[in-house]
Amino acid sequence: MVDPTIASAKTTLFILVDNTFQGYLVRCYILWKVIITMRIFLDTADTEIINQHLLSGMIDGVTTNPTLMVKSGKCPDDVYQELVDMGLPDISMEVGGNALEMIEEGRRLANKFGKAATIKVPCTPDGLWVCKELAKDLIRVNVTLIFSAAQAILAAKSNATYVSPFIGRLDDNSVAGLEVVRSIAEVYRVKNVRTKILAASLRDVYKVTRAFYNGADIVTMPPAVFEKMYKHVLTDAGLEIFNKNLEEIANATHS
Ligand code: E4P
Repeated sequence: MVDPTIASAKTTLFILVDNTFQGYLVRCYILWKVIITMRIFLDTADTEIINQHLLSGMIDGVTTNPTLMVKSGKCPDDVYQELVDMGLPDISMEVGGNALEMIEEGRRLANKFGKAATIKVPCTPDGLWVCKELAKDLIRVNVTLIFSAAQAILAAKSNATYVSPFIGRLDDNSVAGLEVVRSIAEVYRVKNVRTKILAASLRDVYKVTRAFYNGADIVTMPPAVFEKMYKHVLTDAGLEIFNKNLEEIANATHS
């Protein structure tokens, strides 16, 4: 009798390699799955650095906050406009003030920057009311400053597109940030919630990997952390040897 696992693996392989329209659709589906299940955002308002990293083809969006805006020395609308011009599809733009101010600013930004705009609101009663209102207009909302699964539940009930648990800041306060991500992911899974988990305040590569492992859909990190994702001491060591070998091969062929 044929092992069903092997049979199914063979079928999958056949569909993947086959050149029919069906095979093409399967490849598109797999690519789409990878893109939407492991999105990487940069957490910065430094447009020059973002532009450099866009060439990598790995960046799916950007998150900003008022602190990052102050650091950039630019006016927020100018930063957003530059990012839209670069073709970034998803930019978190933080709003503040009372509920009416937030909703007015959120609508203005969505109107000005269109599909690229994700409005970032704090996890407060006002922020969540604004979230619900903006979601009715089909505007993406990122509920930020999330530190517990309870807050993530309220954000999901407000139709948030994203919730942003702050891992580093939880760790700073002796609470395991990654465990909070895991709890949110579990509640959302059990209850079939569509809100996506955008793990934020990530300060090292290990936490980035574990955030995905614990159920995050998206991770946002400073460019310096993203750059380190490529790095491994064994890659460098291996590459040095391979490059030397390639040189030897080239010399031998030319002599
Ligand atoms: C996310 O949206 C926040 O901008 C950010 O990740 C906060 O990070 P920090 O805690 O390192 O300031």
